[in-house]
Amino acid sequence: ALNGGAFKPSPDALKTFSCAQDGRIVTLVLAGVAPWKSPADSRRTWLALAAAFRAVLCAGGGRVNVMLDNAPSLGAPEMFERLAGLPGYVDYRFDRHKRVPSKKHIDRTAFVTSRDDLASALEEGLTDTAGTLLARELVDERRETMTPAGLAACAVKLADELAAQGLPVTAVVRHAAEIEALGMKSFLAVAKGARDAAPPELIVVRYRGCPDDSRVLAVIGKGICFDSGGYSLKTNMRTMFDDMGGAAAALGALRTVALERLPVNLTVIVAACENLISEDAYVPGDIVGSMSGRSVEMLNADAEGRMTLADAITYALREEDAAAVVDIATLTGAASGAVGRRSAVVMSDHECLLRAVREAAQLSCEKVWQLPCDEELRPLLDSPFADLRNSVPGNPSGGGAILAGLFLREFAEKRPWLHIDMAPVCYYADGAPGSGKGATGWGAALLYHFVKRLVQE
Ligand code: BES
Ligand code: MN
Ligand code: ZN
Repeated sequence: ALNGGAFKPSPDALKTFSCAQDGRIVTLVLAGVAPWKSPADSRRTWLALAAAFRAVLCAGGGRVNVMLDNAPSLGAPEMFERLAGLPGYVDYRFDRHKRVPSKKHIDRTAFVTSRDDLASALEEGLTDTAGTLLARELVDERRETMTPAGLAACAVKLADELAAQGLPVTAVVRHAAEIEALGMKSFLAVAKGARDAAPPELIVVRYRGCPDDSRVLAVIGKGICFDSGGYSLKTNMRTMFDDMGGAAAALGALRTVALERLPVNLTVIVAACENLISEDAYVPGDIVGSMSGRSVEMLNADAEGRMTLADAITYALREEDAAAVVDIATLTGAASGAVGRRSAVVMSDHECLLRAVREAAQLSCEKVWQLPCDEELRPLLDSPFADLRNSVPGNPSGGGAILAGLFLREFAEKRPWLHIDMAPVCYYADGAPGSGKGATGWGAALLYHFVKRLVQE
């Protein structure tokens, strides 16, 4: 036992490791780790190892030696890739506002093994986890720094840092006047309520790792820096600074994709704004245009994410000529209702994108569950007065997560499209296994592995 029984391992964790503590040096012996046959397996392994590192942290932290060779399956590079970054992931906390931050840290981790083929998986894993931690930090930051302009500044800083290393990364930020000139009316409708205090920003970050190929993959991240619900005011908005989790995941992934020099052209697009209330704010019933030309009857001011994402998708098709579009968003509470708060939801008509995201989920230890693009629900989005409506009043038919996905699909114009609703897994105010309290950084690793799978095909 660690520290006189202060550590209460789950049965899973017990099977996975035993440990001995010698002063400040903790040795974890990993054993009984089964090979991954499914995302559920990889997730279980990840959770068990996270519990082990968390136990070390709770017991005071210090240096950790991890003996790998008792668990031969950990030698699989893809398993070790995830393990490598775990100490850093568990050690992370958002405590810069605390007068006395905790001094407990995992100072240094040594992976002890006789294998000599894990060095590149170690490097990759640390880079990958750094992307996740970037996403985590962006989500944990509050409005004091994380306004649309603040998010844009982070994206530009990231692009500059990568470019300084000789990587083909550039960032462009378009301000309100340009967004208007582009005709992004549905994005601007949402942004109106906070326009004076926190103007909208269209953030575009491009990585061109394959200049000989004209194809571009666009990843669009939802970037609502705060979602009050607008005039469809939320009663509980305690965590709604997390509503840019999709943007954070996309930026974290771009960082890893670039540093791993994947031969791919990736463009991250974020239509960043806030959903607030003022005399300018849109109200339920407003009919607004969109960059695509479609009009939308906005029956619910809290269904704002799909309005901003719709224009970002059109921007991806028209301005970036994206060959395929992925959107990732904290889009619906209904996604949590459908699958619970341990998985995200995915939707697509493209089997190859679904396969890639499932395989990626296994590698990133982040679970996804597919919901159907149910054509029978599609007519619910028809409006008698506009081309579409953004929500179904009273939602008598349920399927809120599917309806949000189907709304976005309209704007992808039959181009290969994948939708990821990460509302269930972005942020846990009261903590969740493996992640502690706050943001998870969910999606950065998933998107990195997703892009890598596409490149390998
Ligand atoms: N950002 C929310 C979704 C959300 C809810 C994320 C809970 C994380 C945790 C989104 O903008 C929203 O408000 N969605 C509405 C849609 C509805 C009005 C059709 C929802 O889920 O209630
Ligand atoms: Mn909302
Ligand atoms: Zn929202």
